[in-house]
Amino acid sequence: MSGPLRLSLLLLLAAVACSGELNVWFERQMLESVISQMMLLSAKNPLRPRCKPRGGAEQLLHRLTADRFPIVADGHLLSGIYFNSLSRSGIVLANSINSFTVHWATASRDGLPPTRVQYKFMGLHSHNQSVLLHPRLTVPSTGFVPAAESSFQLNLQCTKRVSGVAEFEIHAVFQFSDRPEKRSLTMQHRFRKACLSAADLLKLQQKCYCRKKCKQQIKKKRRRRNHRKKQRAANSSPSRRRSDRRQQRRRRGDRRRGGKKGRNSRQRRQRRRQRRRRLRRRRKECQKECRRGCRAQPSDCQQREAD
Ligand SMILES: *[C@@H]1O[C@H](CO)[C@@H](O)[C@H](O)[C@H]1NC(C)=O
Repeated sequence: MSGPLRLSLLLLLAAVACSGELNVWFERQMLESVISQMMLLSAKNPLRPRCKPRGGAEQLLHRLTADRFPIVADGHLLSGIYFNSLSRSGIVLANSINSFTVHWATASRDGLPPTRVQYKFMGLHSHNQSVLLHPRLTVPSTGFVPAAESSFQLNLQCTKRVSGVAEFEIHAVFQFSDRPEKRSLTMQHRFRKACLSAADLLKLQQKCYCRKKCKQQIKKKRRRRNHRKKQRAANSSPSRRRSDRRQQRRRRGDRRRGGKKGRNSRQRRQRRRQRRRRLRRRRKECQKECRRGCRAQPSDCQQREAD
């Protein structure tokens, strides 16, 4: 390591040591639930969430190996790293994400007396109140950060009157009052969040309910049909089975002899395509029927969005 680099590193460490201990962080469990709900958003339209998470969620979640994700670490603001990229990439928080749990503490881990840190939330603003209410905290908007580890929640409540994407802003200042230089940290970020009206949410829940139900129904039917087919084969007499086998061999022989091979495989492809088309039609009909039932009796089909 070169001299100047080592020196700057030492200076940095010294700065960390005397800046007082303030730690603010997210825990992995909370981030995991936020990310898995984000995976329900279709990138094209955040107001039309999917019924099932899109692929990639597992991979992403596997990469969250730390237990804590710092926003402020040892008195240094780190949130810019991810919050800035979050706002810049235009990521929209899912409708179902309506609170964040934030942990904080000022007690140092090496036994030094805790620094007194005053916090002040100056701006907690929704830029479209017909869609999203102003964000709310479960702690007073000003006070001192507790010495021991504790947590609070930031609640994001949609009005449920109108569907839309609303911007909101968070502006917080931390002041290290024990320090002669009165150091402070400022955090100001803008985020976006999708909100669904109650009617749109119900529609989504019913859509997802019907998709799931029809999938199960069709699978069950297919299983029953396959079972019957097998039974029929088992019940047939041995001589019949022998002749069946002969017929099969003959058919296979036809295929092997070429010439007709192309036609056969084309026919098979066609049959497969027809089967798929039939299945799609059946699924659509089932869903239409199911939704009609849901409209008549909405409470029957209410379900968690992410279910
Ligand atoms: C708020 O959002 C709704 C729905 O997207 C939109 O129609 C309305 O114009 C927005 N209002 C403002 C002040 O941006």
